[in-house]
Amino acid sequence: MPLAHFDGALAVVTGAGSGIGRATAVALAGHGASVIAADIDLPSAEETVAVAKTVGAGGTAYQVDVSDAEAMGTFAAEVKEAHRVPDIVVNNAGIAVAGPFLDTGLDDWDRILGVNLWGVVHGSRLFGKQMRDRVHALPNKPDKPNFGGHIVNVASAAAFAPWRVMPAYCTTKSAVLMLSECLRAELAGSRIGVTAVCPGFVSTDIVEHGTYVEDDASARDRLRRRGQKAISLRNYPPEKVAERIVHAIIKNKAVVPVNFEGHLLHTLSRVSPATVRLLARIPAPRG
Ligand SMILES: NC(=O)c1ccc[n+]([C@@H]2O[C@H](COP(=O)([O-])OP(=O)(O)OC[C@H]3O[C@@H](n4cnc5c(N)ncnc54)[C@H](O)[C@@H]3O)[C@@H](O)[C@H]2O)c1
Repeated sequence: MPLAHFDGALAVVTGAGSGIGRATAVALAGHGASVIAADIDLPSAEETVAVAKTVGAGGTAYQVDVSDAEAMGTFAAEVKEAHRVPDIVVNNAGIAVAGPFLDTGLDDWDRILGVNLWGVVHGSRLFGKQMRDRVHALPNKPDKPNFGGHIVNVASAAAFAPWRVMPAYCTTKSAVLMLSECLRAELAGSRIGVTAVCPGFVSTDIVEHGTYVEDDASARDRLRRRGQKAISLRNYPPEKVAERIVHAIIKNKAVVPVNFEGHLLHTLSRVSPATVRLLARIPAPRG
């Protein structure tokens, strides 16, 4: 699909109010797409639309909690009604929960599974069905097949490798990777591409927004500060992830590791699982 294809395309991005979601919404707008910027925090999504307007077609902001099945159903129906079936859907909204498995409570599990996994299930199911129904309703042109659409699920390098510091996060992200692979196989016949994007550390507010499950407050603060320091030292901007997402849609890539640690963990997980298991024992960075 040439870049020009984004002209006039409709793109839905969840978690579009910050970080990778905002950068992706702006990048897609810059490539000609009209953007539906969805976030649980409406003012932040509205700011994204304002930025998107400065580079391209702009779009519309929506407030939605991706973990809420009913709200997502209403959102998908509203998008179709008020706009049309989207051509691109980026299931990006996500949160971090860090700390030992044995200290991670059921509420923490519910929250992270709700946003990181159910959010991707809802977005992929609802918009995937819309895309499939649309492409099957169009007349078949064997010489010039219809473009069915593209779904991007933002997983993480944590999908490739276990880490004792983030058991719940790693679990959700490896589930998103597998979901994306299965869905890609299912939707290939409908000419709908599916990509799992797997970045290493990226400089966003994810650590700030995250939950830390250590026993006492000072240990939780320490973990948060260390995470913030690690992410700011890493200094990898979300705009670079957005570029990779745009490229993945154009090239219909299946799995896209992003940045050094993304590629390293992807390769190690295949060539040396024993090394990955040793790395999993490394504790949180000292700060
Ligand atoms: N930052 C990193 O190092 C990194 C690395 C790999 C993958 N990721 C993934 O990238 C995605 C985006 O994260 P980010 O780093 O940009 O974080 P971020 O905290 O900057 O942005 C996340 C956005 O999602 C929104 N959000 C949270 N819960 C929501 C919900 N229930 N419904 C709708 N929106 C919700 C937030 O309001 C926020 O705007 C996540 O899936 C994350 O797991 C991040």
